[in-house]
Amino acid sequence: MRTPYYESTMHRQIREKREDRKERIKNDLQLYGEDVLNSEEMKEAFQQTHHRWSTVGEHTFRVAFSSVMICYALKKLNIKVSVPAVVIGALCHDLGILGRDGKYSSSKEMSREHPKESVTVARDLVADMPEKTEDIIERHMWPAGQSKAPNSIEGVIVSAADKYSAVKDVVKGSDVKKTGVKYYVRDEKEKIKDLIKDL
Ligand SMILES: [Fe+2]
Ligand SMILES: [Fe+2]
Repeated sequence: MRTPYYESTMHRQIREKREDRKERIKNDLQLYGEDVLNSEEMKEAFQQTHHRWSTVGEHTFRVAFSSVMICYALKKLNIKVSVPAVVIGALCHDLGILGRDGKYSSSKEMSREHPKESVTVARDLVADMPEKTEDIIERHMWPAGQSKAPNSIEGVIVSAADKYSAVKDVVKGSDVKKTGVKYYVRDEKEKIKDLIKDL
């Protein structure tokens, strides 16, 4: 049986490791994504609802954090990944959704068209953006809709982190259940199903 001393040491070590990783991720986001992070578009992203319970900004940060975390894990396996490409790709992947109501006539159209629009927005924010990064953004919806499959490991990372984060955004609805508004959630179930289908 573990002693409390051992347990507290272990938990402290885990906490410190997590905090250290969080700092490293924040530094990488700041270092490679500064232009995007300081943009008006990113501010606007926190005003626009996304995946029902979240905002484009919150979702974007979840995707960026998870993506960089996957990069670190792959690097430990000696798999080469470009952190700058992943950071820019993740931070810009959904910026084309901004102003959705004025741009797209249906959620289907939005889901199909926003990756290309995100590339256009990203080109304005990032100087000399490599084609590889454009591909990450343009193909991030895969395997949903008619999106082409990612053509780089960085593209696979952002696409996977996007799905994971989108499910987390939507599943936040199950937290609402615990706060006593379960009937609201039940009524919304069909809509949530539709959302998941579109991810
Ligand atoms: Fe998207
Ligand atoms: Fe997304």
